[in-house]
Amino acid sequence: MISDRKLEHLLICKNYDVEFKNKTTGFEDIELIHNALPEIDKNDIDLSTSVFGKKLDSPLFITAITGGHPSSKEINEQLAIVAEENNIALGVGSQRAACEHPELEDTYSVVRDNAPDCLLIGNIGAPQLNLANKAVEILDADILAIHLNPLQESIQPEGDLDARGYLDLISKITDAVDIPVMAKETGCGISGDTARQLADAGVSFIDIEGAGGTSWAAVETYRAEDRYYGELFWDWGIPTAISTAEVVNNVDIPVISSGGIRSGLEAAKAIALGADSVGMALPFLKKSISHEELTQFIHKFNDSLRIAMFLVGANNIEELKQSKLVVRGKTREWLNERGINTKNYSRR
Ligand code: FNR
Repeated sequence: MISDRKLEHLLICKNYDVEFKNKTTGFEDIELIHNALPEIDKNDIDLSTSVFGKKLDSPLFITAITGGHPSSKEINEQLAIVAEENNIALGVGSQRAACEHPELEDTYSVVRDNAPDCLLIGNIGAPQLNLANKAVEILDADILAIHLNPLQESIQPEGDLDARGYLDLISKITDAVDIPVMAKETGCGISGDTARQLADAGVSFIDIEGAGGTSWAAVETYRAEDRYYGELFWDWGIPTAISTAEVVNNVDIPVISSGGIRSGLEAAKAIALGADSVGMALPFLKKSISHEELTQFIHKFNDSLRIAMFLVGANNIEELKQSKLVVRGKTREWLNERGINTKNYSRR
């Protein structure tokens, strides 16, 4: 049953090592250029950003984690409280279980109850076209995310392996709901080519969720009887820094950089690469046991982002987006190989 699977995922992610082993996000290859004369007041730096008309105090998104099991209600409640207090955006996990089992609805509706003013993101899979409006209604969502997870489906025993027609379904979902639709991966990233297909299908927001953080092959390895496949594909995917650059250089819609982002410094690099916002999932799950820890984590994230902005002389997120940076190593090699001129970043 989906609900039991949700609980297993939560327990595995909380208690086991589920992050990439040998592959990294690529942010170690991105160097922002230090400005010894910033000529700005750090206390005046503005982290706020606007997403589809809603003003947020920071470009940090808590991306989809949970819902659909009684034990996830408390986690969603904690995340909602802290998101509301800090005016940041919050996504919920796949809502399929609640759309099919009304007794689980409160594991999601608890979010809007505790975050009346937050930007909230619902979550379904592409095949759940018929559940799209129900998912929006249960959460009172501002944006509906469609998750893409072919790697997880390939490794999990109950995986859905027929991915034909998804683009058409995504296009139909964008027509069916009257809020913006986001496409999000779950830790393998989105290429520039796929981003173009998604934008053409009517998607108005892309959350790249690249490789280097939580690995869903890893999560499913712990559930599998035969660990061979999960271990083989543990590190599969497009590193987050690379996927970010590919997507922003191919489409003109807002982009969230995510997957393995763990600090405000990495977030600054992602935004300088061209992302509008950044997202994190696993660190929020791990800290969701304590309101204090969640709050401190968000404050440290915002402060370290602010320090990075001070050191490049950026007053706000738009200025940070234009900051010069150097792309090195395997990240430059990949991007150049794919036709993206990395000098456009270093000589702006
Ligand atoms: C997730 N993620 C996820 N994504 C999604 O679109 N629908 C979902 O239901 C879930 N469920 C889920 C459960 C748990 C326990 C975790 C940790 C994550 C994926 C998540 O949104 C994100 O894409 C990845 O976790 C990569 O980001 P991090 O964890 O490296 O910051």
